[in-house]
Amino acid sequence: MKFELPPLPYATTALEPVISSATLEVHHGKHHKAYVDKLNKFIAGTDYEKMELRDIILASKGKDKKVYNNAAQTWNHTFFWNCMVPSGKKMSNGLNGVLTRSFGSIEEFQKKFNAEAADLFGSGWVWLVQDQSGALAIRGLKNANNPMNDNEVPLMVLDVWEHAYYLDYKNERPKFAENFWKIVNWEFVEAELNRSGKSQPELVANLN
Ligand SMILES: [Fe+2]
Repeated sequence: MKFELPPLPYATTALEPVISSATLEVHHGKHHKAYVDKLNKFIAGTDYEKMELRDIILASKGKDKKVYNNAAQTWNHTFFWNCMVPSGKKMSNGLNGVLTRSFGSIEEFQKKFNAEAADLFGSGWVWLVQDQSGALAIRGLKNANNPMNDNEVPLMVLDVWEHAYYLDYKNERPKFAENFWKIVNWEFVEAELNRSGKSQPELVANLN
């Protein structure tokens, strides 16, 4: 299968002022595109060519570094675009309850997530995941790494590679992480939790 760069789900100006059009243009049009192009190049003529993106990520980890890195970066960026929406989407009472029970309060959850974003050394991604027990957790993963390789379900992600924020925030990654909350698409996060198929009964009950 030849992979294609999916279009952004909104205009490049839509996330301003949190993320500028200049950043989105280069992040999506150059960085994300380069991962897709390299992935196509590296899988050409291999067994990976016949596989879905998710299966490539699972199969290539620890075996084919170039394929893994570009497959995961291709998936991660598409997921990241969908985690955001112009002006943000309101969090439902159900999801609010799930996050509050998991982290103590929404403020605590955001504080913990922001701390992970600030402390992750080098390039990477900060994820909200559902772990193998069904509980929610925050993971800071380096480089291209994706929680699905640890059998965890990705629910939300923030790209903390410098290319995600440097034009707008220079070296101030914590400021970027703080502003991210203004544009989170909570409807998307909730939908991912609902379709994870691993939801704890009590979590699902609170979402309905
Ligand atoms: Fe990125």
